[in-house]
Formats: sequence, C-alpha cells, structure tokens
Amino acid sequence: MSNTASAPRKILVTSALPYANGAIHLGHLLEYIQTDIWVRFQKSRGHECHYVCADDAHGTAIMLRAEQEGITSEALIERVSREHQQDFAHFGVAFDNYHSTHSDENRYFSELIYTRLRDAGHIATRDIEQMYDPVKGLFLADRFIKGTCPKCGADDQYGDNCEACSATYTPAELIDPVSAISGATPEVRSSTHYFFKLPDFADFLEAWIRDDHVQPQIRNKLMEWFESGLNEWDISRDAPYFGFEIPDAPGKYFYVWLDAPIGYLASFKHLCKREGLDFDAYWQKGSDAEVYHFIGKDIVYFHALFWPAMLHGANFRTPTAVNCHGFVTVNGAKMSKSRGTFIKASTYAEYLNPEYLRYYFAAKLTSRVDDLDLNLEDFAQRVNSDLVGKVVNIASRCAGFIKKLGGGRLSAHCAEPEMVARFIAAGDAIAEDFEAREFGRAMRKVMELADEANTYIADAEPWVLAKQEGREQQVLDICSVGVNLFRQLMVYLAPVVPSMAESAREFLKLDTLDWESRQKVLLDHEIAKFKPLMTRVEHDKIDAMIATSKEDLVEEQKLKETPKGPLADDPIAPEIAFDDFAKVDLRIARIGSAEYVEGADKLLKLTLDLGGETRTVFAGIRAAYAPEALEGRMTVMVANLAPRKMRFGVSEGMVLAAGSDEGIYLLSPDSGAEPGQRVK
Ligand code: 2FM
Ligand code: ZN
Repeated sequence: MSNTASAPRKILVTSALPYANGAIHLGHLLEYIQTDIWVRFQKSRGHECHYVCADDAHGTAIMLRAEQEGITSEALIERVSREHQQDFAHFGVAFDNYHSTHSDENRYFSELIYTRLRDAGHIATRDIEQMYDPVKGLFLADRFIKGTCPKCGADDQYGDNCEACSATYTPAELIDPVSAISGATPEVRSSTHYFFKLPDFADFLEAWIRDDHVQPQIRNKLMEWFESGLNEWDISRDAPYFGFEIPDAPGKYFYVWLDAPIGYLASFKHLCKREGLDFDAYWQKGSDAEVYHFIGKDIVYFHALFWPAMLHGANFRTPTAVNCHGFVTVNGAKMSKSRGTFIKASTYAEYLNPEYLRYYFAAKLTSRVDDLDLNLEDFAQRVNSDLVGKVVNIASRCAGFIKKLGGGRLSAHCAEPEMVARFIAAGDAIAEDFEAREFGRAMRKVMELADEANTYIADAEPWVLAKQEGREQQVLDICSVGVNLFRQLMVYLAPVVPSMAESAREFLKLDTLDWESRQKVLLDHEIAKFKPLMTRVEHDKIDAMIATSKEDLVEEQKLKETPKGPLADDPIAPEIAFDDFAKVDLRIARIGSAEYVEGADKLLKLTLDLGGETRTVFAGIRAAYAPEALEGRMTVMVANLAPRKMRFGVSEGMVLAAGSDEGIYLLSPDSGAEPGQRVK
C-alpha cells in the first residue's frame, strides 16, 4: 500500500450513475457515502484523486416518464439532475464533477467505442422478433408486457418471469399479453438489432476476473456466469428511443446500458477540460493511474463483464477494481414504501443530520458484498453514544478550562507525550482499514481511542483539581492533552463526518485536518470558543421521517401513470403482519335463505349455515343477486367480526365479495368444501 511518503497516486473514482427519473433514496446513499468516504480519505492522504458521476439519462423509462408528465425528456433530466445534485450536496457527497450521459462528451465516446469495436469485428447484426405496441408505436421491453403466466396461470405477470411461481419465459409465451403502457395487445414484429460479441472476449475476461479486480464473492459469481457461457449482448434499440443514434444505423439507438458506463469517461473528460487534466494519462492502455468503480451487487454483470470487454476491445485501459456493495435493509427488512422505510434522501435530510447516516453506514461497512441493515434503534443509539457521547464529549469537557485557565491557549508542553504519540501512530493502521474499505474496523479503532481519551480525562478529574489552589497548570496540561487527542480523532473521522470535522477544524484553529497534519502536536496553540459539534439523534425525528415517507408514497401513487385495472382506483393497503391476518377467522358458509330488506335498496338479508351454527348477515349484494339464486349456495364469511347493529337488525359477520358498483362477485369455494371449514 502506498502512503504519502511515496509519490502521490493518480486515482479516478466513480459511483454508479443514478437514473434520471427518480429520487435518490437511502439505498442509493450507501454507495455514494461509501465512495465519498474513500475519496475523502485518499485526498486527505495527499493523493491526486478525482471523483466523478453523472445522471444516467437515457432509455424508454425516462422517455415515458417525461411523456406522462407532459414535458420533454430534456426538461425532465434537467430537473432531476438538479434534484439529485441537491440531495448529494446535503449528504456531503462531494463529486469533482457531476455530468449527464446526455452530453456531447458521452456521444463522442459512445460513438468512438462503438466504431472501434465495429471496425475490429466485434459487432454483429441480426433480425430478432420482439413484441411491439401498435398503439404506442414502439417495441416493448419485457417489463412493459404483462399477461398470464404460461406455467402456473397467475394473472398480471411481467414479460420475463412470474412472481407467483418464479418461472422464466419469453414474452411470446405469455397468455393474453398486453402492453403495460397502452393496454393494447402487442404484435410480434421483426427488426434488425446490433450485438456486441462478448464471447470474443472470453479469454481476456477470464484472466481479468481471476486477476483480483473484483472481490472474492463476486469472482465466484462471475465464474459461474462465465461457465454457463457468454452471450452476445444486444446494444441497439429501435426508434422512438431517448438516447444516441448509432452512427451507421439510422433509426437505431444505443441501448441505455451501452452509454451509461461510458458516462464515466464522459464526466471525467468534462472535468479534464475544466481543470486542464490529462485524460489519456488515466485512460490509455498501460496507464499507471488507478480507476475504481463503486457499484451495487445488482449491476455486476455490466461492470465486470461488458464494461472491461468494451474498454479492452476499444483500446482503453480497464478498471483497477470494481468494488461492490450489498443492499440496504431497514429494520431487518427490504425497504418498504408502505412501512415508510423507503426513505428518500430529501425526506431524511428534512428531519435528521446527514452526518449521522454517514457515520452509521461507515460503522457498519466492510469490504464485502453483504447487505447492510439500518436498524433505526441501533442507529440512534450508536450515533449518540459514539459521536456525541464519546468524541464530542472530549472537546466539550476540556474546552472550558482552556479558555478559563489558558486564555484560550493550549499548554506549551505535552503532559502525556507517549499517549499522544500512540494516538498518532494508530493512524497508520486506521489508514490501512480505510484503504481496504474496512470502514467499520476503522471506526471501531477510532472509538477505542475515544474511550481511552475519556478514561484519561475521567481519571485525571480536571474539574476536581480546578477547585484546588495552585493546580491551574496541571488542569491546563490535562485538558491540552485532551484537545490533542480529540484532534487526532477528528483527523480519522474527517472523511466520514466532513461537516463536523470542519467545525472541529475551526474550533482547533487549524488550516487542515489532513492525515499528515496530525504529526504535529498542538503546543501553545490558540483554540476558538467551543460550540456544540453535533447534537443527539432525537427519536421523534425518526418517527416523523417514517410518517412523511408513508405520505411520500401516497403522493407518488397519485403521480403514477394510471395502470389499467382495479389497482388504479384502489391501491393495495399498507402491509400487515401475518399475526394481524391470522386474527381474521374465515369460514365456509352455506346460504340457507336470502331475502330482500324493506327500505334498503342495496342489502340482502342472508341466513348462513356454519355447520352447527346459524348467522344472520346483511350483505350489500342486492344489485347483483336475486335472493332465490343464492339459496343453497356456498360462500366464505368472516366469522369472528364483532356484530354490527344496523337499522334493520344485527349483522353477525360478513360475506366476501369482490367488485364495485359495476359488478359484484360473491366468492365461492370449489365444490367439496363444507360449511364451518376454516379458510386459510
Ligand atoms: O442501475 C442503475 O441505477 C444504473 N443507472 C447504473 C448505471 S451505472 C453506469 F454504468 F453508468
Ligand atoms: Zn407462474
């Protein structure tokens, strides 16, 4: 591992490009925070490190979203880019450049890479058959087609796999397919597509994968894919499509995933132009610069197979490493809109300090691909105990005495040179952890040091000494050691909590908290008046954030393209626990008699036989059923519903029916079910 004693490294770092049609949420933030911490650490070490990103602005989803909002795709991506950048700024994610894949640089590099690949014989064309929406006039990606699963018969399944039985199939195999965009029945049409011949790069990729450019877990996964065979990759889409037209193929566009990673080059090029950097020094073959991509585990295929092959085939260098992280769960479960744990960055920032989250993620991050759980209880507890209780506490306990006894100046000599030297030396091991993306391990070391510093102060009891005469210098000495230890901790924490570190830097009246700066112990040094550097996490703010996230869902649902079918007007209710469902006792019932209710134009009075018990139920099904048609019929009832007193009598349960004013459909069991049987 290099350190600052050797020549500065040239490092280019990227995070995945967020799609320009949705808000940044906590799941995204894990990646941007992880990357930003690593970049800030490299900069602190004195390396030449550039961090670039961009909005991923192309594709059908963005085109349709703009259409639905009644604006152009350009206007949409412009607005979303502003929103994204604002979110990133709130969370201290400090890109050196934030660009767009819909940019001149990206068009240039997409065309360049494509033509180089084509000229080297790595592009093939052939006709493929695809579903086409004749109403919208566009070819439909699998996720825009819905229909009945050919394997299990479940309705309303996507074009490539069934959520009910997990079967995979082609959209052509779906029964009664419809376009999810227009509701029209799609037709099969043929058109010419362009393919990147990935199998040409099999040997290259195999060597690349084995050569430590990815984490071990990812390598194993890649080798599995590899062994099951590489396929040619379809890189074209037919018009209409929001993207770049393929140079020699009018009406054909680069598939969004072709020009997305090229956006890394484009954003960096844009930075190079602005700052006079040498683009080729980073991207030409044989470059001694390092290039790192931070991504989520869901997009490994694109970054560890297609991307290195494209770069290699087009005569660019390949990434030094692709660093993968897992997904964020909240309170142990997938982020859920109905539970209010699908939290947008902007919603979080409305209620809580972004640096809490940066610290919490850092404390739990490793170099591995495991998912990371944001447990909100643990989050509050850990931030309060570590950052506020341990770190800030050191400074706040010492600052007052330094003001009072030293006139704001630290002691001219160090009373605990060995301890201070140990805190400085610990920076080497902590740096190794940061370098290796073992942020959790680094944070544990920092908090162990914080514990030590607090113990030192607690044992020395400056507040007791301060009451004794003639002990002023001793108190000043102790507190000056405390401030020096605090300074070391802030150097180590600065990549994680940059805004808190900035306040600490002002308090310490230092020019910098860079890694090397820690070597110089602060003696006879003036410090500023202490201001609280961080306040405690408040639980009611967390609750309010969850409540607002639930409201975000309602807003979103209003905005959504009206899906065809009943869900449009009657969205699925918030999730309930299994225990809640289990409270409902559903039973098979035989309708013994049914009669009109005088004065009630919607109701029928039913007498239900539960096999030994009889219930009277008033059901709002008169519009759909004549009483005599119901007599003897089996249905399903809620048997443990509290009796309800109605104008016409007491209703002792409820029968189950689907539908609305347009039609009512009483549920019935298959033949063979018996009155009184439990439905489960
Ligand atoms: O999965 C996604 O959100 C993509 N927009 C990531 C693209 S990363 C890179 F390839 F551009
Ligand atoms: Zn199925």
